[in-house]
Amino acid sequence: MKNIDSYTHTRGESIYLDDIPVQAGTLYAACFDSPVAHGKIKHLDLRAAENSYGVVRILTYKDIRGINQIGGIIPDEELFAEHHVHFCGMPVALVLAETDHQARAAVKKIKIEIEPLTVITDPRVAAALGELIVPPRTFKIGDSTAAWDNCDHIVEGSAYTNGQEHLYIETQGAYAIPGENGVIKIYSSTQGPTAVQRAVSKVTGLPMHMLEVDVTRLGGGFGGKEDQANTWAALVALATQITGKPAKYSLGRMEDIRMTGKRHPYSSDFKIGLNKDLKIIAYEVTFYQNAGASADLSPAVMERTLFHATNSYFIPNATATAYSCRTNLPPNTAFRGFGGPQGMFVIESAIAKAADELGIDPMEIQQKNLLKTGDEFLYGQKVVSEANECWNKAVEHFNASKLRQEVAEFNMQNRLYKKGIAFMPVCFGISFTNTMMNQGRALVHVYTDGSVVVSTGAIEMGQGVNTKILQVVQSTFGIDAAKIKVNSTNTYRIANTSPSAASATADLNGKATQIACTAILDRMKEVAANELNVTAGSISVCEEAIYLNGDRTTMDWKSLVLLTYSKRVSLSEHGHYATPGIHFDKTIEKGHPFAYHVFGTAITTVTIDCLRGIYEVDSVKLVHDFGGSMNKVIDLGQIEGGIVQGIGWMTMEEVVYDQEGRLRSNALSTYKVPDIYSVPKEIVVEYLETQQDNLAIFRSKAVGEPPLMYGIGTFFGLRNAIKNFNPGLRPPFAAPMTPERVLMNLYPGKPTVETTSATLEITAAPSI
Ligand code: MTE
Ligand code: HPA
Ligand code: MOS
Repeated sequence: MKNIDSYTHTRGESIYLDDIPVQAGTLYAACFDSPVAHGKIKHLDLRAAENSYGVVRILTYKDIRGINQIGGIIPDEELFAEHHVHFCGMPVALVLAETDHQARAAVKKIKIEIEPLTVITDPRVAAALGELIVPPRTFKIGDSTAAWDNCDHIVEGSAYTNGQEHLYIETQGAYAIPGENGVIKIYSSTQGPTAVQRAVSKVTGLPMHMLEVDVTRLGGGFGGKEDQANTWAALVALATQITGKPAKYSLGRMEDIRMTGKRHPYSSDFKIGLNKDLKIIAYEVTFYQNAGASADLSPAVMERTLFHATNSYFIPNATATAYSCRTNLPPNTAFRGFGGPQGMFVIESAIAKAADELGIDPMEIQQKNLLKTGDEFLYGQKVVSEANECWNKAVEHFNASKLRQEVAEFNMQNRLYKKGIAFMPVCFGISFTNTMMNQGRALVHVYTDGSVVVSTGAIEMGQGVNTKILQVVQSTFGIDAAKIKVNSTNTYRIANTSPSAASATADLNGKATQIACTAILDRMKEVAANELNVTAGSISVCEEAIYLNGDRTTMDWKSLVLLTYSKRVSLSEHGHYATPGIHFDKTIEKGHPFAYHVFGTAITTVTIDCLRGIYEVDSVKLVHDFGGSMNKVIDLGQIEGGIVQGIGWMTMEEVVYDQEGRLRSNALSTYKVPDIYSVPKEIVVEYLETQQDNLAIFRSKAVGEPPLMYGIGTFFGLRNAIKNFNPGLRPPFAAPMTPERVLMNLYPGKPTVETTSATLEITAAPSI
């Protein structure tokens, strides 16, 4: 089934926050945010702004009726700066005006005097100063300290991955509307309606039942709206509470990029030990996570880094330690993969470095150490399906030896163009790492004309979850898709939602939907059975017809619905699902945190221009474990989008903060994301249908985040291409591998290249 949003999307009729009709009297909000990364506020001068045309009011922390606190995991984040500013972009005041333009014009008239304090941007510096968000955590299997003696090769090194701007197409925003008796309705572009409701409740001091949060869809979230949509919702709700008027804030792109956190940059140290047979015997890794100025989701992100520290490999002795370091950057946050990619990059770097030292291809080490059924992860869970299966199928299906041979031949024939090939196996755990969050709910109503409306806690953000929910209703009831409407996500219909995140949205909300539909259907079957004087077990529904022991009866879906109603039997149900069997004990850092794992292996081939440093991704060919995909086109979209986003992070997206903590890459002119010219020339997906039991909805495994990590293969493909140009080179494990970095890695210490001989080579080389 195609995405149910495709019709309105292509006609430009889909409704996003900014498309909601604005009520008369709506005030427009705009933030005055700190121009300084760390300092003490000496004086805030609002007079000129207050007198600015159209300005109705300016809010600061003094106007807050609840508490000035929006921290989710840890209460360490002020909504408005009170006496200190902790990052450039921290909200200090909110201007409310009659128009958007007037609000922004007034913001420019606000003056602030800040006494500067020391600015920390480097997580290692923060760690050395003891500036940690939470105490460090260590995951451990076996005894790595003792195991070094059993290693024939030991390699040490460091790795660095940069941040990443979410660049959802729809910027952050919220719109608050006052109702009767102090109730506030909030439209928010959020992945977490309940997180918004809680944050607004804290800031306004209003109980949660006075706050209705409604979300139709997002123009992308990618983790950036899991927690960070709260700020704007809290600001407009506060404005409504104080003025009694509707208030709206839809961020401009530069405001959004400047004021919001990004993927966490990580700086890490590793040590890896192998035996003669290339088995990894021991691995030690220390992660320094750049959390930014407050906790946000950093402790949870750090935890997932530890869970994925060994990626797809079985390592009998591994110790992984992580520090979440407080710096003066905007609080970094969830981003597709949620710390997993950062952890995986380091183990892949360790393997690549070991391969460098041994003079072999990294794939030899990768292949020898893949997880097998029964192997234990460093957090105690056992592997139930094989990483080997995807790897072997990729090798076979895409004829890896031929691919490698083609690369070798190309490299023999070309001096200034080199190809590189890299394998990237991925193993990603599905479930929120915080066990409590693994619950979902759905409310299903069947109307007397046989049509159905379903509401869940799922947020549609482009990933196609609403289509999957609709499919669950359709196949559970056995009715036509046209009879089903997926409603907006609303905290008055579905309470206490987990954010749509962790790739688990379709599983949690889809299962809850299935439970609700099954309960209604069971009651309807009971009614039919009474009518026909048979047992309910002999009744079934298929394509809107009612069957008795496989034989069609005169009853159909619609008449049975009416009959059920006439018998005064409920046609509504609220379904609740909680993932069974998962647990985790933080005191020993062991347990069974994930419902299941998603596996895959990608083979990436790249070509670099060794004269200019530019490159192309020739192809990404992968085998991905879908369990059994319930919607192949939607899942293909997730794979393609994830890969391109991962490649962007690894190759071209360069978040640059200067020493003063000011974001230099603050616009699309200074921050390059993949465009149609930089996507791989070819992405080939081979669907692996695995047979093992899994807890996925309809056995269709979660697909949202895992593909992003295939993008890591591009970094190592580029690195291998550089080494194919000059086998003596050892490019550092520092991402992103921008064209500038490729060039500098090709010619370390050589600033210029002879142009004359190069010109000759270019004519002989293929176009790139
Ligand atoms: N795909 C689109 N088009 N837009 C998004 O914002 N977010 C990603 C992924 N794919 C995202 C997306 C992230 S970070 C997650 S966790 C999952 O979708 C969330 O949705 P799911 O749980 O339904 O997979
Ligand atoms: N993944 C994504 N988001 C989350 C998680 C997680 O594991 N835990 C809390 N928020
Ligand atoms: Mo996704 S980072 O879990 O929103």
